Amino acid sequence: MGRIPAEIIDQIRFANDIVGLVSEYVRLTKKGRNFVGNCPFHQERDPSFTVSPDKQIFYCFGCHVGGNVFKFLMLAENIDFQDAVRRLAERAGIKIPQNSDPFTSRRAAEEERIWNINKMAAEFYHRQLLDAPGAADARRYLLERGVSEQTVRAFQLGYAPAGWDGLRRFLQSRQVELSQAVKAGLLVPTERGGFYDRFRHRIIFPIHDHAGHVVGFGGRVLDDSQPKYLNTPETNFFNKGRLLYGLHLAKRAIQQTNQAVLVEGYMDVIAAHQGGATNTVATLGTALTERQGKLLLRYTDTVYIAYDADNAGQNATWRGLDLLQSLGLNLYVVELPDGKDPDEYFRRHTLADWQQLLRSSRSLMEYKLSVINKYSSTAQALQEVLPSLAAIDSPVKQEEGVRLVAATLGLSWETVKEELKRYTALPGKKEPETDKIVKNKHNIINGSKITPAWQRAEQYLLRLLIEQPQYLPVVRSTLGDAFWQQPELREIYQAFDAAWQKGKTGGPVSWLEELAPETATSAVRLMLDDFPVQDADKLLHDCIAVIQKHLSRQQKGLLLKAIQDAERNGDWILVHQYIRQLQNLQ
Ligand code: CTP
Ligand code: MN
Repeated sequence: MGRIPAEIIDQIRFANDIVGLVSEYVRLTKKGRNFVGNCPFHQERDPSFTVSPDKQIFYCFGCHVGGNVFKFLMLAENIDFQDAVRRLAERAGIKIPQNSDPFTSRRAAEEERIWNINKMAAEFYHRQLLDAPGAADARRYLLERGVSEQTVRAFQLGYAPAGWDGLRRFLQSRQVELSQAVKAGLLVPTERGGFYDRFRHRIIFPIHDHAGHVVGFGGRVLDDSQPKYLNTPETNFFNKGRLLYGLHLAKRAIQQTNQAVLVEGYMDVIAAHQGGATNTVATLGTALTERQGKLLLRYTDTVYIAYDADNAGQNATWRGLDLLQSLGLNLYVVELPDGKDPDEYFRRHTLADWQQLLRSSRSLMEYKLSVINKYSSTAQALQEVLPSLAAIDSPVKQEEGVRLVAATLGLSWETVKEELKRYTALPGKKEPETDKIVKNKHNIINGSKITPAWQRAEQYLLRLLIEQPQYLPVVRSTLGDAFWQQPELREIYQAFDAAWQKGKTGGPVSWLEELAPETATSAVRLMLDDFPVQDADKLLHDCIAVIQKHLSRQQKGLLLKAIQDAERNGDWILVHQYIRQLQNLQ
């Protein structure tokens, strides 16, 4: 998709109230004209996260991030501006016109068609499971596995009828183009030009992306026949490595508990959620990918791996865990008793048991050390734990880790330390990105006591102008508009002034998007900082006076310097001129 027109962006911004959006992530309470809550972007106990419904912006006085609805979603979901605009358009039911870039817009349109067909199919399968006489076996099967009706509804579980054309006929009745249903992987074309249903007589697990679109399906047999699971074939539009099953339902709980539990299968997620562990997602039996790690990082920095016992020790799994760790995630390995999977565990245990199990789980490094006898040599074992050791960001904890590794492997700690140093110096090794928020280092608007008066005057004046733009003409007539000495404030002023000329300063602050990201953050902070104004007129005139005084002092300094230079050059005419100017100033 090409550039989205500015009017559409305005429309989308207006249609998404920031308090409503933020409330989906943070519990907000009203405080004066604003709302406050605990910042979702850093750990804190006293709420310093502020949302202004009047200005439609947010700012965290703890970690210094801020902006409008788009910026909030960009940070909360770790997506770029275009994606944030698209997501909020969807949230508000606004259509973004398809244009310019034909390739991406064709792809986006195609993806949307597939989502649509998948959605219809998921509803069809779901209805079948709930009502169809032919689905009696499927209902009994799920009942026997302890899946409640509420869970069936939450995960939109379904049943694909036993015939060859149940879905095909349903899609035809809805005027769906069957070739599109083939692209979605729901129908299979025959040599004679017909189509039949891919999923037949199976329990259906719709697979959603994190935003809730149905992107594919898994289908399980009701008995022991093979293959146990049949999935939507991998295409450009469906790729298991880019997904985490259950994330659309789990993301809030992951964010709130600041931990995610990673399991292997559909039923593990379903049983865990039913048991109350709603921060659980699954990798669907595939090796972990960087993409999945980054998906998790959007919501948390701590991940518990609860894989089947036989899989947790496999090489592919370990590589995947190292990868997650290298992204900056803290990893713990949950050891399930008796080689059970989480689905079986929840049949006989409570949520409290599960949480106890998580609490007693070992860090990835400790886990590796505990199964170290599986390695053929000490050297190999050491190589295996180095990535986990290197990923520990606290020096004290790393030192502890070094000692533990040394003791377990029967090596001196100097040796382990030496090897660690060599490992971390490897050129290909990535630095863990533990800090997911890039803090604003150029924040000059900090109201600290050492700020010179004229700087504060500029800040207050700009703040006042944003609150009460009717003062703009007065300021322009007394100071002009080239007086700003702080470049960031000048930029904010210019963007704001341009919006004012177009009559667009009310409501959500549209001009923020015209600014560089750090400048926009400063602007937001400026607008939300404490600003107790009793007498706006007085403040205005005080600010103007301070700025004028500062400007004239500056000019005076320049003139004095010019006079000196002219004297040195013996240019008496110039000296005379400057002295007259100086007198005029005073
Ligand atoms: N899987 C798959 N195709 C298979 C086998 C497994 O796609 N033929 C994926 C499924 O997503 C499955 C996961 O790998 O949920 C884990 O496989 P497994 O442990 O064998 O299945 P369970 O989830 O335990 O399924 P169930 O409890 O229904 O037997
Ligand atoms: Mn199972």
